Amino acid sequence: MDSCAHDLEATYAGHLDVLMRRTTRALEVTGFTGLLIHSGSPPPVFLDDQHYPFKANAAFKIWVPLTDVQDCFLYVEPGRRPLLLFHRPQDYWHKPADLPESYWTAHVDVRPVPDRASARPHLPADLSRVAYLGETFPEITSWNVGAMNPQALVTRLDYDRAVKTPYEVACLREANRRGARGHLAAERAFREGGSEFDIELVFLRACGQREQELPYNPIIALNSGAAVLHYQVLERTPPAERHSLLIDAGAEFAGYASDITRTYAHDSSDFAALVREMDQLQQSLCASVRAGVDWRDVHLSCHRLLSELLNDADIIRCDVEKAVEIGLSSVFLPHGLGHLLGAQVHDVGGFLRTPEGGEIPRPAGHPYLRLTRVLEEGFVVTMEPGLYFIDALLEQARADARGAHINWARVEQFRPFGGIRIEDNLAITRTGCENLTRDAFAAVSAG
Ligand code: GLY
Ligand code: MN
Ligand code: MN
Repeated sequence: MDSCAHDLEATYAGHLDVLMRRTTRALEVTGFTGLLIHSGSPPPVFLDDQHYPFKANAAFKIWVPLTDVQDCFLYVEPGRRPLLLFHRPQDYWHKPADLPESYWTAHVDVRPVPDRASARPHLPADLSRVAYLGETFPEITSWNVGAMNPQALVTRLDYDRAVKTPYEVACLREANRRGARGHLAAERAFREGGSEFDIELVFLRACGQREQELPYNPIIALNSGAAVLHYQVLERTPPAERHSLLIDAGAEFAGYASDITRTYAHDSSDFAALVREMDQLQQSLCASVRAGVDWRDVHLSCHRLLSELLNDADIIRCDVEKAVEIGLSSVFLPHGLGHLLGAQVHDVGGFLRTPEGGEIPRPAGHPYLRLTRVLEEGFVVTMEPGLYFIDALLEQARADARGAHINWARVEQFRPFGGIRIEDNLAITRTGCENLTRDAFAAVSAG
């Protein structure tokens, strides 16, 4: 048994205990007696007989690592083993999923059902105090559940989900290893002259995943495309000149996501030096996190470090505090420093003040930050500082007082490279963090 399989085997029962404890408390507080979770159904394309790719409901897949079986139900009641109604249709157009048998199945009561309606008799006759989590489907109205996605319950479960169990961290570790394999292959494809599309195919093959299995569509940008934060084009032909690659791509494992970005310079230009400096900046931010640190402070300290770096590289000429205050650093870094990561790439609960709700606001002038909570042991977050040359933002700055602090000749020199982002996934501990991504690159490189 490899070390990942061993970790899953050793930690899954404890994971279920934690989920059960959290759920029991959430049901008590919100007045329900049970929880019914639907894995989901892929939505149909408008006026077509095709469906969009299936993405399992995250609230479902944190209980059981089933990411590709639609129309399953998990019924959870305090004091009982979770009941999984496993969708196994009689279908000769598609191949029904085999009944699972794995490290987790002994802990769950698994029963096959041929369709959604056939699931109903397996559930308690009276569902009037059961909360349902999932998208609506026609039959559910006649099941008379107590509530559909009740907000107070959803909020409490989302709040708790920020703290990952050892099982979840093991899954995220493995998702990082898979992602690192993809990234190392992608870098080789870049060096060998591949197009954006070529690099994506190489990434998929090295991860062993098709695009719809990934947690998000890879962002693979050559040259100035790297200035588009969520660049989606995938050019089929290589550019005439090759300057840089920004690849933001993650893999999936057992329903958990990695979210990894690397930026490469094609030659040893000033841009290559800038990438190295951003890497050092990112590493110093990683070294500053631990339980008890307010993520908003880390985000603001990133803006100060970036302003220093921009001054040192002669891209701006401005006092560091002033550069942050007047939004000059935000011209070059318009997105948040990171977010919670788990069963969803942008995991839920990043703004919640308490299990009952209430929002912790973002710092003024930083509208895209996705995490405002104080870090706790067990949080898994991304650390993803960036430095971009984005025409639209530069033009806005040129038109206001910030323009006078920008060295436009230097900006012009860097525009063909697009930008830099370096993104790792960190499991927060009491005294620091485990860098799941750097560890994964080291392990995969070592073979
Ligand atoms: N891949 C999207 C992000 O980094 O948040
Ligand atoms: Mn990313
Ligand atoms: Mn991210």
